[in-house]
Amino acid sequence: MQPIHRPVRSFVRRQGRITPAQERAFANLMDRHGVPAEPEQIDLAELFGRAAPTLLEIGFGTGEALAEFARAHPDWNALGIEVHQPGVGRLLNAIDQEALAHVRVHADDAVPFLATRLRPGQIDRIHVFFPDPWPKKRHQKRRLIQPAFAALLTRQLRPGGVLHLATDWEDYALQMADVLAGRPELINTSSDGPYIPRPPERPLTRFEQRGRRLGHGVWDLCCRRATDGGEGAAHEPAGD
Ligand SMILES: C[S@@+](CC[C@H](N)C(=O)[O-])C[C@H]1O[C@@H](n2cnc3c(N)ncnc32)[C@H](O)[C@@H]1O
Repeated sequence: MQPIHRPVRSFVRRQGRITPAQERAFANLMDRHGVPAEPEQIDLAELFGRAAPTLLEIGFGTGEALAEFARAHPDWNALGIEVHQPGVGRLLNAIDQEALAHVRVHADDAVPFLATRLRPGQIDRIHVFFPDPWPKKRHQKRRLIQPAFAALLTRQLRPGGVLHLATDWEDYALQMADVLAGRPELINTSSDGPYIPRPPERPLTRFEQRGRRLGHGVWDLCCRRATDGGEGAAHEPAGD
């Protein structure tokens, strides 16, 4: 029998502790705020019911940063992707309670989603905050920020669009800097080494808080997709 080829995933699906409220949110609110399975190729204006600049956050955890961005930028659409059901339930509750009608959630692996469901060049801003560090050498192939995924991220950005990554693992920060430097379309926004100072508008997430308690440092990296000066350049969130 042929061996079954399993892709290397950047996550392990763990149910974890899900509260009844998160479970109810997952069961009842995905219809309203989830990304439907059809059509295969997503039209973002149709998904959000309006054309607007769009943020994509990958691996939003419990969704603090995404909800904060949505509160601060009602004129933007925000699309979040996360595999961890309790975190998705938590964000769905926040969206519902605060009537954040401009947020949509995909509760599955970001990799095939980006590869097959999003048309290239539609996203103005991508956030990947504290992706799983997979610190053991033998697990590092699971890290999300690898050349192939960086190619997918770059493909989604409009010219002028911004990719913002953060990590609290120094060797992952170095890997991120290397991977981003390998994409000729991406221009690092820092004029002083690969990292930028922690932007004050980036909310303190659970993982960052945990890292701080453990005495970890934090590295933020920010790149802009080169523009050709033509039409369709990305939007800036107000205050950036
Ligand atoms: C270390 S946590 C950080 C969560 C959050 N960004 C924060 O700062 O608190 C990384 C998250 O990425 C999610 N994740 C990992 N790989 C993913 C993938 N391929 N697609 C979607 N989510 C993913 C995990 O489920 C986890 O919640």
